[in-house]
Amino acid sequence: MPQTHPVSKRLISWYKKNKRDLPWRETSDPYRIWLSEIILQQTQVIQGLSYYERFIAHFPTVKDLAHAPEDKVMKLWQGLGYYSRARNLHATAKKIDSAFHGKFPDNFESIKDLKGIGDYTAAAIASFAFDLPYAVVDGNVSRVLSRLFDIDTPVNSSRGKKEFQLLADELLNHAHPAQHNSAMMEFGALLCRPQNPKCETCPVQEFCLAYQHKTIALRPVKEKKITIKNRYFHYFLFNYEDWIYIQKRTEKDIWQNLYEFFKIETEGMKEPAEILKHPSLIALDTGFNIKKITISKKHILSHQHIFASFYEMEITKPMNTKMTRIKRNQLETIAFPQLIIKYLKSLSYY
Ligand code: ADE
Ligand code: SF4
Repeated sequence: MPQTHPVSKRLISWYKKNKRDLPWRETSDPYRIWLSEIILQQTQVIQGLSYYERFIAHFPTVKDLAHAPEDKVMKLWQGLGYYSRARNLHATAKKIDSAFHGKFPDNFESIKDLKGIGDYTAAAIASFAFDLPYAVVDGNVSRVLSRLFDIDTPVNSSRGKKEFQLLADELLNHAHPAQHNSAMMEFGALLCRPQNPKCETCPVQEFCLAYQHKTIALRPVKEKKITIKNRYFHYFLFNYEDWIYIQKRTEKDIWQNLYEFFKIETEGMKEPAEILKHPSLIALDTGFNIKKITISKKHILSHQHIFASFYEMEITKPMNTKMTRIKRNQLETIAFPQLIIKYLKSLSYY
C-alpha cells in the first residue's frame, strides 16, 4: 500500500472536526450515495437536501425507484433541470433491478458501465459505499490540487483532466479512501473556496505552493469554453454547359479568400421549398432546372457546426453576375473549403 501523504492525514483530521452532517454521509448504501451525487450535480447542497429527502421518502430503495411510474420520478425532479438526468436515473434503477436483482454493483468498472455514471460519480460511489481506492476529482478537488501544487494547466482541458486525476490518484489515502475523498471535497467547499480561501486557518498551508508563490488568486486556471455555433448554408452549383459559377469569400469569417458557390445562409434548418423562394435567389433572375438536391450534411469545424445543403442546378443562359465562371475541368486549380471539395468529389467533378 502506498505511503500516506501528510496532506491527506491533515485533511482527514480537519474533516473529522469540521465536516457538515449530511444525510448521504451517514450511509454506505450505494443507492443513496448515487442519488445524492446525481442531485448534487444539479444544485447546491442546501437545495439538494430537500430533493434528496423527498426522493428517499418516496423511493427508499433502488427497487422502489425502479418500479415507480416515470411521471412520478419526473415530478420529484421538477425544478432541478437537465431532465435527461432524471430519465437516466430511472433507467439505471430499472437496469439494476432487472440485471442485478436490485443489488447495486460493487466494483468500479460495473458501476461506471451504468448509464449516466461517469468517472467522478463512479469513484464517489466506489469509495463512499465500498471504501474502494478511487480518487474523486470534481471542481472542489481540482481547485484544491491546483493550489496545493501550484499547477497552471487548465482544469477543464483534456490535458488538465488527466493531470489532475493522476495527481488525485497519487495523493489518495489507500487506507481510508472514503474519508480522504470526503475530506478533499469538504475542504474545497468550506476552506479552500473559489474566492477568499481561508488560508490563515488552513491545516495544509505549509505544503501549499500557491500560497508560497502568491498565486492563489490565479488558481485554478480555466480554459475559456468555446461556444459552438450552428450555421445553415444552402449552396447552389449553377452549371451552364461545362461551366460552373463560383465566388470568392472576402468577408472576415471562416474560409476567407477561399472560393465557394452561390450561397444562401439561414438562421435555422430550412426546407428546399422555402430556399427556392428565397429573395436572393430570385434576384439572380436566372432560369434553372434542378438536377439534384443534397440535403444538410453536418461539417464540424472547431467553433462552428455547418449544416450544408447543395442544390445542383442547370441554367439555360449564361448568368449576368459578378460571380466567376470556370470550366468544370479547371475546378482542381481553385482553393475550396473541404466541405465543397467533398461535395465536388461526390459528383466526380474533382
Ligand atoms: N457535492 C458532491 N458530492 C458531495 C458530497 N458527497 N458531499 C457534499 N457535497 C457534495
Ligand atoms: Fe487553499 Fe489557502 Fe490552504 Fe493553499 S493555503 S490549500 S490556497 S486554503
